[in-house]
Amino acid sequence: MTTPIYYVNDVPHIGHAYTTVTADALARWHRLLGDDVFFLTGTDEHGLKIQRTADANGITPQEQADRTSARFREVWEMLGISNDDFIRTTEPRHITSVQSFMQAIFDNGWIRKGTYSGQYCVPCEAYYNDADLVDGNCPIHNRPVEWLEEDNWFFELSKFEQPLLDWYASNPGCVQPDGKRNEALGIIRQGLEDVSVSRTSISWGVPVPWDEGHVFYVWYDALINYATAVGYGADPERFAEWWPAVHHLIGKDILRFHCVYWPAMCLAAGIEPPHRIGVHGFLLVGGEKMSKTSLNQIFPADLVTDFGVDGFRYHFLRDNPFGPDGDFSYEAMVTRFNTDLANNLGNLLSRVATVVGKKCDGIGPAPSPTSPLAAVSVEAYADTAAAWANMTPSLALEATWRLVREANAHLEINEPWKMEPGPELDAVMGDALEVLRLVSILATPAMPDTCAEVWKRIGLPGTPGEQRLPDAAAWGGYPGGLAVDKGEALFPRMTMPTND
Ligand code: MSP
Repeated sequence: MTTPIYYVNDVPHIGHAYTTVTADALARWHRLLGDDVFFLTGTDEHGLKIQRTADANGITPQEQADRTSARFREVWEMLGISNDDFIRTTEPRHITSVQSFMQAIFDNGWIRKGTYSGQYCVPCEAYYNDADLVDGNCPIHNRPVEWLEEDNWFFELSKFEQPLLDWYASNPGCVQPDGKRNEALGIIRQGLEDVSVSRTSISWGVPVPWDEGHVFYVWYDALINYATAVGYGADPERFAEWWPAVHHLIGKDILRFHCVYWPAMCLAAGIEPPHRIGVHGFLLVGGEKMSKTSLNQIFPADLVTDFGVDGFRYHFLRDNPFGPDGDFSYEAMVTRFNTDLANNLGNLLSRVATVVGKKCDGIGPAPSPTSPLAAVSVEAYADTAAAWANMTPSLALEATWRLVREANAHLEINEPWKMEPGPELDAVMGDALEVLRLVSILATPAMPDTCAEVWKRIGLPGTPGEQRLPDAAAWGGYPGGLAVDKGEALFPRMTMPTND
């Protein structure tokens, strides 16, 4: 499972966090399924953009990279990201891997010399055709492009139109969602031109092994990080163990690189392209993409202070359907927090713990095998699992929360707070505890700490993250006879900010 590697010119904002939290949740879901998971993130440290940022800051590009890469690590740690590795493209392991990867493409005869000139957007690190420009500006950054001309090495992408179409035809689920797959196919069908993969105008890059004085264009260095981290060129056995069972998660702005260039590079190097690429839309603020120049960036720490780590994670996973753009709103975040977390999950735990404390001597009873909630849980599990498999976290959490809501409704119908102690009350409470057990497991990818806390409070040993699906999702796993601890409110309700 991979995230894009982030450019080190900019500190992490909630757009970056959105991608990384989603990848983390997917990695955690796969771990629950018992899959072997290697979860990779990192930083993209070469190229003109970084060189210029460093110049502007009066430091070396390496210093710029060291500082900002550390910021990414800190933020991911704060957000509970469970990555197994953190790759930096300036590491020696990556430099040798890029050189062997590109050398393989060269040796296979897919790289030739040529001259390149065109309109270049430095923030994108990409050339644009005149037709792509909007009023002469970069279509993504809406700022002027620059004319660049250089002698380059070219990758013969044009020869990969048919191999790519064939690969897409035999791997129908490789790009998610379908709309993004069609977009990638559209780009390929329009016709592909050879692309320049080296630069002589800059020095901040990986040297081209067969031609001194050239460095690889940053994208051809960056994409290879995914292969480096699992041993490309250094440890063939390890590489074979993981590749091509790779799931990339990316934003829509880098679709062309991941869904067209990267599979072609893999084919050219003689390896299979990655199995899956999930493409999400942008997180907008006030309808605009976040950027340093628009001064509309929101940083994860600002929101974590108000909502906690799990409140933050839950919001971005639940409120942004994977694929389309989503507009961030603090108000929507408060509403979602109060509805789903304070009123639904938090309330379920607090009601159950209160009644168990008052009427069951604080000992949680076992669920009833014939509970009406059993069927609800089967459906909730099936829908949750299908949604994670489709890389749609918002639908997965929606399905899991149907179970939370049904459990609250079950309590409201039975009103255990008015019942006398006895088997009937025990069944109602046992059923609710069983739902809390199930939800702790199913929501662990989104809210690992909260779920571990719920698990502990209902008296279960270990952690929900250690459970294995699908077995752990079978109704009736809560054994009963465990001490239930009410504790503090999980999610104290938030008040809507006023505009003054
Ligand atoms: N370095 C390249 C990726 C190389 S991967 C081999 C890059 N870096 S980036 O830092 O500019 O962006 C990384 C990811 O963050 C992209 O997937 C991008 O879509 C995502 N996001 C950056 N801003 C975003 C939003 N406002 N919303 C959602 N995702 C955004 O591109």
